[in-house]
Formats: sequence, C-alpha cells, structure tokens
Amino acid sequence: MLGFSRITIGVLSGKGVGGARILGVLHGSYPIGDRREYHEVTGDVICPSHVRGIDHIRDPRLNKGMAFTLEERQTMGIHGLFPPRFKTQEEQLELCKLSFERYTEDLNKYLYLVGLQDRNERLFFRLLSENIEQLMPIVYTPTVGLACQEFGLIYRRPRGLFITIHDRNHVYEVVKNWPESDVRAIVVTDGERILGLGDLGAYGMGIPVGKLALYTALAGIKPHQCLPVTIDVGTNNQALLKDPLYVGLRQERVVGPEYDDFIDEFMEAVVKRYGQNTLIQFEDFGNHNAFRFLDKYRNKYCTFNDDIQGTASVAVAGLLTSRRVTGRKLSENTFLFLGAGEAAIGIADLCVRAMMAEGTPLDEARSKIWMQDIHGLLVNNRPEGHLEGHKAYYAKDHPVMRNLKDVVLEIKPSIMIGASAAGGAFTPEILQAMGSFNERPIIFALSNPTSKAECTAQQAFDNTNGKCIFASGSPFPPVKYEGKVFNPGQGNNAYIFPGVALGVICTGMHHISEDAFLIAAQTLSEQVTEADLAQGNLYPPLGLIKECSLKIAEKIADYAYQNGLASTYPEPKDKIAFVKNTMYDFNYDNYALPRTYPWPVVN
Ligand code: NAI
Repeated sequence: MLGFSRITIGVLSGKGVGGARILGVLHGSYPIGDRREYHEVTGDVICPSHVRGIDHIRDPRLNKGMAFTLEERQTMGIHGLFPPRFKTQEEQLELCKLSFERYTEDLNKYLYLVGLQDRNERLFFRLLSENIEQLMPIVYTPTVGLACQEFGLIYRRPRGLFITIHDRNHVYEVVKNWPESDVRAIVVTDGERILGLGDLGAYGMGIPVGKLALYTALAGIKPHQCLPVTIDVGTNNQALLKDPLYVGLRQERVVGPEYDDFIDEFMEAVVKRYGQNTLIQFEDFGNHNAFRFLDKYRNKYCTFNDDIQGTASVAVAGLLTSRRVTGRKLSENTFLFLGAGEAAIGIADLCVRAMMAEGTPLDEARSKIWMQDIHGLLVNNRPEGHLEGHKAYYAKDHPVMRNLKDVVLEIKPSIMIGASAAGGAFTPEILQAMGSFNERPIIFALSNPTSKAECTAQQAFDNTNGKCIFASGSPFPPVKYEGKVFNPGQGNNAYIFPGVALGVICTGMHHISEDAFLIAAQTLSEQVTEADLAQGNLYPPLGLIKECSLKIAEKIADYAYQNGLASTYPEPKDKIAFVKNTMYDFNYDNYALPRTYPWPVVN
C-alpha cells in the first residue's frame, strides 16, 4: 500500500501563496515518492504549491486576462494588476475578432493569432474553433506558407522542437528536453516539400505548428499532448542558404543512409520517451521519402502521412458522396488522374480499396484507374523508363500518349482528378469533352494554391453546361450558372486528420491501417446532407468540421476495438461519451472553486 505524507499548505492570502487548484484545500497528502512537488505547469498537472498568481498571468495555459474574477484576483494576489472591468470569455472573443479584422495583411493576421496563442491559449483555441472558415486559411494554408517563407523574420519564441543532424546519437536527449511529459501526437516535417513551395528547410516549422493547432481546434486534442517537430538535415534551397535571416543549418541536405538512420533514431527516441502508441504524423517530406517512410514505418509505429493518406481520404469521401448524385457505384466509373505523385497515388490506392469494399476484385479495381504524370500517360514500356512502386499498379498496356486532351478523348473518363500542380491544365476543351460524354462528369481540381488549380469552379460549370460535380483543393467563390448559385466544396484534409488522430489517441492504437482512412472517408461522406448536395457541395460546411471529427473518432474507435487494435481498456460502452471525455475544454477553469487534487486528499 502506498504511504502518504501529509503536507500542510499555508493559509491563502492575497499574497499569492499557491494558486488555482489549492483554494479551499488547506491540507493535502500525496504518495511518498511522488515527485510532483516541484514547480510544474504542464499538461493537466498544475502543481499548486508554487504556482503564484503572477504565474497565472504569465503562463498562456493559465492566463485568462480580464476574465479573472474578483475572487480569483484577490485570492491569487493579482488584484490591481488588471483594469477593474471583468470580462467574460465571450466578450474577449468579440474583442479578438475586432482586433483580428483590423489587420489587412494576412501575415499580420497570422502574427496576431500567434501572439494570442502565446498569451492566452484557451482564448486562442476557442477563437479558432468557433471561426474555422475565417481563421483556418490564416493558421493553415495558404497563409501558413507565407509564414514559413518569412519564418526567419517573424520568429519570436520557441514553439516546437528542432532536431538537427548534428544531434545524431543524441536525439533522445533532445526529445527529453521537451517540457511536456504526456505527448500523444507529433507532427514532423523535414521541410523538404512545404506545401507547393518546395524546400524551405527549418522554415518548415510553421507546418507542424499549424497542423497541431488544428488538432486542438478541430478535434479537441489537448495542446500539451501535441508536439511539433522539425528535422533539420540542411536545405538545398540556395536562396535560403544565402539568406542572412535563415535560422536552420547552413548546409546542403544530408541524404542516403545517414539521413535514414537519423530518422530511425528519431522514431526510436519518440517511442522511448512517450511510448509505442504516440501518434507520429509525417508532413511535407519530399515525395521520394514520403512513400518510403510510410511503407517502412506503418506497421512498426503509430504513424500516417497526411499528404498521402489524409488527401486520399478526403478525396474518396467526395467520390463516395458523388454516388448519391450519379447513382453509380465507384467501380462503374473510369478514373483519370492528372499527376501521379503523393496526392494522386494516395487517392488512387484508396479508391481501389473503396471499390474492393464494393465487391470489386483488386486487379479489376486497378484497371479502372488511368494516370498521367509530367511525361504522359502511365503505360508499360514508356521510353522514360520502368515505372516503379505504386505507379506501376496503374500502368496500362497502351501506346504512349502525352497530350491530356487526346487521353481524355481516348479513354472517356467519368471522373477526372487533378493533383499535378499544373495550373489551368483542365482547359475549356477538355472540360467540354468531359461534359459531352458524361451526364454528370466528376471533376476534382485538387492542386493548391489557387493559382495551381487545374481549373476554377466557374470554368468547370461553364464548360460542362452546369452538369459537373466539382470539388477543389483551394476555396473558390460561389459559382453562378444560369441564374443559380452553387457552392462547390473544398476537399480539405482538415476534415479527416484531426478526427483520425482523435480516434487513434483515445483508443491507444499502435498502428493505423489503411482501413482507418476508408472509414474516415465513409463517415465524412455520411455527414453530407441533401441541402449540401443541392448547393453542389460534396462536403459538409467547413464550420461543421468539429462534429465530423467526433463522428470519425467514434467510428475509428469502433474499428479499433473490433479489430484488436486498441490498447485502452476496458472498451467503453458509449464511444461518443468516451471520446468527448478526453477532449479539451475551450472554456476557462474557475480558479476560485475548490478543486480536487490530482492526488488523494486526506482531511
Ligand atoms: P508531387 O510532387 O508528389 O506530385 C506531382 C505530380 O504531378 C507528379 O506525378 C508530376 O509528374 C505530375 N505533374 C507535374 N506537372 C505535370 C503536368 N504539367 N502534367 C501532368 N502531370 C504533371 O505533389 P503532390 O504532393 O502529389 O501534390 C500535387 C498537388 O496536389 C499540389 O498542388 C498540392 O497542393 C495538391 N494537394 C492537394 C490536397 C488537397 O486538396 N486536399 C492535399 C495534398 C496535395
């Protein structure tokens, strides 16, 4: 049996002895050997004995600004440090919105939000989660891309872990320096292919930071459980290497076995510190590494690649929804992809899985999918050389063809998906052709940013006589066609990855199988209403992502328990309640209420 040592905490006065969680409790006991008596403001454990009132102001996790009540201000010894007005969190949110809107440049809006996160974490996350449509393009694409490009200029204070190739053989020691002890999710990049911007080296840190902000805002994963990581092995971006503001290693990228061993060491260090079921999301690695690492680690670690699997899931969700409009099964389509990179191959692979779920055999499902990359149609015996990896699955025995319009006229696809970053590649003639042999052509122009989209929403509708079923990667303004207004949706990965991560974390899954992304796609598709479809939207409104995340997490949890992949036991009866119970509370704590210690109290 554990012994308990009695501690007596001094009577509270306005001098700020002790903080929020000791109010009303003058005597406490903790297990002998429990070393939590040091000053720790981390995670959910806020050690009361040394957190002074002023710490509640300085620590963004505790700070409530003018929302501290009179009682809190007096008992914590911070009375007088604020103007006399007391504000509700709702009033603070209104002020935040006003402040945000005063900035005209997106980068300044981004900096305002960074400042808010550094000052008052709960307010930041509540603002973000309640204003997703307006703020997501700032916290994430496209503005985060700009923030990455200007990272050397705008960097203010640490957020995330930088691990460089010089830390080789000592990666665990660096990971150990992270001040949080309960990390459940890591987003890691090596900065080689940041969005459509190329190699940004250490400047890529904005991406894991932004993605993890969405983990919390869209799926309620607690901020202290999230760790952004940038692996710095150098950069081949010559402009950055010469840039006096660049903050990363000033050397060319380390490649080959040395690089691979280093990534191995990172994975091992994470597991050693945080456990086998720590979720590690790979983000914006170069194409050649992304697939390799996914194949290498997917059965060994709890990992996924959002560029490949998240994109696939959101695109397949759109395609599943389109069945309600066309009345056709997925396998009754002919697919043509423009692009055969991370996004396109990921989508194609998941389409195959979805067709197999409809009962189509593997080879037949693959035979429905045609792909074209920068060299032309993927065909066997292409003069450019043998097709490797997943690309080879989709190569056809067909003469070489290079022109997209010719390919479209030849194979007459019913679904055309652009993930090529070739802006404008779906020309009016190509779109007209799609409209000529399809009653309802399905056209996805997924490339980002907007300038790289294969066509705009308006072009797709105009050139198919308004018949198309359209989705894009970047947001487009509403489409006007023959007096009607359509709001085609954005196949944004944010519909998928936060919910998948939440389900994985709650259940303590050790591995994330491909099925999880099909389940996420099906679940998302089920959330689309007839009203959404009537607007030409294959997705629920972006403002409902939080609800989608919860549903996805519930379904992932069901799947995890049914298939023996969960490690959190016993299995909860009510999965939704279980998932909700783990989620972050965006509302402030009331520090003046007596609270229960995180350890037993003896009166
Ligand atoms: P990637 O670099 O891995 O692949 C690009 C592919 O396009 C390659 O196969 C390349 O050969 C091909 N390509 C390039 N120019 C071409 C041309 N003129 N004609 C035909 N093929 C051409 O890039 P990744 O990661 O696959 O991304 C591609 C695009 O998809 C990017 O614009 C990215 O922003 C977008 N994307 C959109 C997402 C979404 O909407 N949810 C998610 C992930 C990516």
